[in-house]
Amino acid sequence: MAGGTTLTGRVRVTGAKNSTLKLMAAALLATGRTVIDEVPDILDVSIMSEVLRRLGCDVGYERTPGSGGGGRVTIDVPENPSTETDYDLVRRMRASISVLGPLVARCGSARVALPGGDAIGSRGLDMHISGLERLGASIVSEHGFLVATAPRLTGTSIWLDFPSVGATENLVMAAVLASGTTVVDNAAREPEIVDICTMLTAMGARIDGAGTSTITVEGVESLSPVSYTAVPDRIVAGTWAIGAVMTRGDVVIERAVAGHLTVALDKLTDAGAHVEVLPEGLRVVMTERPRCVDVVTLPFPGFPTDLQPMAVALAAVSSGTALITENVFEGRFMFVNELVRLGADVRIDGHHAVVRGREKLSSAPVVATDIRAGAGLVLAGLLSDGITEVQEVHHVDRGYPDFVEQLRGLGADIKRTQR
Ligand code: UD1
Repeated sequence: MAGGTTLTGRVRVTGAKNSTLKLMAAALLATGRTVIDEVPDILDVSIMSEVLRRLGCDVGYERTPGSGGGGRVTIDVPENPSTETDYDLVRRMRASISVLGPLVARCGSARVALPGGDAIGSRGLDMHISGLERLGASIVSEHGFLVATAPRLTGTSIWLDFPSVGATENLVMAAVLASGTTVVDNAAREPEIVDICTMLTAMGARIDGAGTSTITVEGVESLSPVSYTAVPDRIVAGTWAIGAVMTRGDVVIERAVAGHLTVALDKLTDAGAHVEVLPEGLRVVMTERPRCVDVVTLPFPGFPTDLQPMAVALAAVSSGTALITENVFEGRFMFVNELVRLGADVRIDGHHAVVRGREKLSSAPVVATDIRAGAGLVLAGLLSDGITEVQEVHHVDRGYPDFVEQLRGLGADIKRTQR
């Protein structure tokens, strides 16, 4: 890609990856056809579709023209799904762990490979396991699989040590079919949690408190399949917003929800941007060089860790010095070495990064190490003089549908040279 572009125009955001993958897993809770709209056409959705197929489901996907890379997924769930997941598939994507809760709840057992995913930290599963054990499951780890059994889960109270997104989702999806009441305390409050709880409620579940730290689930006997539309992707929306600010552009982000990005948008305003809430989404305009702003990542409603690489890239071209603190994933600064290759002045000390802004970066071949790091490097490339090559770009394909095409639509001089 060639540097020196100003991003201008309109871009449409489809459904959130981090919601859709769990909505697909939640389909396992009901026999019959679940339909989900605004599903992003990304690699992780293909992996989750394949995980579900190996469990006996029929899964179809059809793109919706003009949706910004979204489509409709249909999942036909049999009366008795298989309970063993494919080892190699699950190892490719951490979100596959979200089939664990629904399978144990529905089938009384599950054998799920220990998942892989992005290289951004140790990403334990202790809260998923101890929560399911409190619900009455017995869980052992053998030969790379987690094996869970429970004739019928029983409602209980669960306190999470940290508001883990994945653990909250897995436990809620298990509790909806448990006998009695489950209370999950210190639950995650992300919009994707609210989305899953909304779909589960439409399926017949009884859930209170989604979006707060205490979620109460009244177990029911069975659920029915539904048609549902996934919540817009706030991380993709935030990526476009930061891209607009970095390149001093003017971008309308259709379907972006301001309330899902409050802290991030405040930071962009502090950096000098003009952010306008429109009926169809958000408009982000920047006319001058951005100012450095400090950022601290935290669980929702804090600044999202998934936007941290873009925040570092933004600071790298802003005036002044920024302190970026990462509190969620310890390995998340690994990509900084690549950003430094582009001439960024970044120093890491534990979970802090000190970024001294430069007027311009300098192009170089760099390697994407995970989805969000890849997107951050691409944005930095837009501010580099000369041609920047981002390798291992398949990571970005896991989270951003049509990323290159959308950037081109906003005026970037970018092309894909490798699949
Ligand atoms: C999800 C998102 C990811 C996002 C993250 C935090 C998906 C597919 N991924 O990941 O994009 O960055 O939320 O917003 O939705 N932890 C434990 N033990 C556990 C569970 C988590 O120690 O049992 C730790 C993790 O190592 C991490 C922190 O808790 O340090 C947060 O993890 P969690 O909120 O669970 O993130 P994910 O659900 O994996």
